[in-house]
Amino acid sequence: MLENGSEEYRVTVLPGDGIGPEVVEVGVRILEEVARRFSVPLCLERDEIGWAAVKRYGVPLADETLERVKKSHAVLLGAVGGAEAESKDFAIRPEAGLLALRKGMRLYANLRPVCVLAPLLDASPLKPEIVRDTDLLVVRELIGGIYFGEPRGRERTEQGEERAVNTMVYTTSQIERVVRMAFSLARERKKRVVSVDKANVLDVSLLWRDVVIRVHREFPDVELTHQYVDNCAMQLIRAPQQFDVIVTGNLFGDILSDEAAVLAGSIGMLPSVSVGDGGVLCEPVHGSAPDIAGRDRGNPLATILSVALMFRYAFGLQEAGALIEAAVLSALEQGFRTADISADGACCVGTQAMGDCVLDQIGRIRPGAG
Ligand code: IPM
Ligand code: MN
Repeated sequence: MLENGSEEYRVTVLPGDGIGPEVVEVGVRILEEVARRFSVPLCLERDEIGWAAVKRYGVPLADETLERVKKSHAVLLGAVGGAEAESKDFAIRPEAGLLALRKGMRLYANLRPVCVLAPLLDASPLKPEIVRDTDLLVVRELIGGIYFGEPRGRERTEQGEERAVNTMVYTTSQIERVVRMAFSLARERKKRVVSVDKANVLDVSLLWRDVVIRVHREFPDVELTHQYVDNCAMQLIRAPQQFDVIVTGNLFGDILSDEAAVLAGSIGMLPSVSVGDGGVLCEPVHGSAPDIAGRDRGNPLATILSVALMFRYAFGLQEAGALIEAAVLSALEQGFRTADISADGACCVGTQAMGDCVLDQIGRIRPGAG
């Protein structure tokens, strides 16, 4: 029996929009195969989010979906958004479904590891000697900051012009919990944390910095430095090896993690896992890529690596996570590439075929198991 008395791990699968369903299909194949090999009892349920949910339920995240998700041990999500939905008002925008999911699951920390894999050194537009051996973790606060702050909205002024406002707001406890998470994770790594803010301009960043310094006293073995977000944006592509763990607020983390994707060769390589008070949400960092949707062209590796994070963070099975990560590396070593990471001479494969390659490598690395 599992911790909470249930007999199997319940995983809700939310494919979403665009290339989401295609990459999630591959992710589920990996999930099922590795679960079988490690004798992890799984119960998969499928539901919708984003534009797909608007079509089915009239809203981007239905109450019943959130209820189902709250009873799950983990969620595997593809992507939300897409051209179809561009003109819709905010409440039924696909993105609103994702934000409501994160908030509803109380996922305050979004972990985005950025590892430069040796076979992809030349997939980055940056010089190999700059990106080589980069292995960093962005810890992004996920349910606060300017994404959720009030007041927000758009109005017409007495002068007849339009005025729009969003509010960047953090409380002490919101900062403490994500920063504590970052320091704890750093302890398992190289024990270095860079906290990113804009404390030379923003009050909210001054509070952020004070809280970080205070929480750091609980972690004297971890080295702490601070960077302004503009400087960090530059350092990330100038000298990325300086970073181990980066901890920052919601908006800065969103922006910096896309930038960091350039180090890994493609945003199609970046997985993420979000954790908090209960469930675990695994999703690739990339979006729905509507331009290539339905054409078997998306890179499933970010989703596959997100499944590895599910084994690590939701099921506590480090070995299974490591197996998936090793299989991805060796598929790349064999020369298989999706279009986003392919250079001259590489064997360019589609979404599903890349999934097959990884499954194949899993069988080779751990023959006969399961
Ligand atoms: C991400 C995405 C989302 C975000 C969007 C789709 C709401 O960009 O996960 O990084 O801004 O958080
Ligand atoms: Mn983003």
